[in-house]
Amino acid sequence: MRVVRTIAELPHGSASVGLVPTMGAFHRGHLALFEAARAENDVVVASLFVNPAQFAAGEDLDRYPRDEESDMKVAEEAGVDVLFAPSAEEMYPDGYGTWVDVGELGSKLEGEFRPGHFRGVATVCLKLFNIVRPDRAYFGQKDAQQAAVVKQLVRDLNLDLEIRV
Ligand code: PAF
Repeated sequence: MRVVRTIAELPHGSASVGLVPTMGAFHRGHLALFEAARAENDVVVASLFVNPAQFAAGEDLDRYPRDEESDMKVAEEAGVDVLFAPSAEEMYPDGYGTWVDVGELGSKLEGEFRPGHFRGVATVCLKLFNIVRPDRAYFGQKDAQQAAVVKQLVRDLNLDLEIRV
């Protein structure tokens, strides 16, 4: 497994690519996503990025569980080919100013209590889709609203990939 920290280093080729976007702290749910991606694609890329844009002030971004060493081991054993683990500066460099407005879907249910959360999720997912250029991206069923937001993003912005939930 290759660990890649910059966008420029990510390999691109003609093989089919499955992307599993994650914030790390891998558990059995992630393993199921890696397994599905492994079964359906030539290359499996997992992203490991605790996305500051989806945490509001006071939501404890700093206390989000992080164990990169253990995650690397788990990902490697699960057959992940590339672990993309960028820094916050790589994803949101100085002067960053573009955000995805997810509309009504982002402001109800969980969005009612976490304003801006789904804007941050949609923005980072769009960035990851553009950076990794996957054929398929994998999301857990337990985050049902997130999956709906990402599906809407793909439909509304005519993105050329399949969302697998
Ligand atoms: O579900 C998550 O772990 C995150 O919301 C995601 C999809 C990786 C975006 O940061």
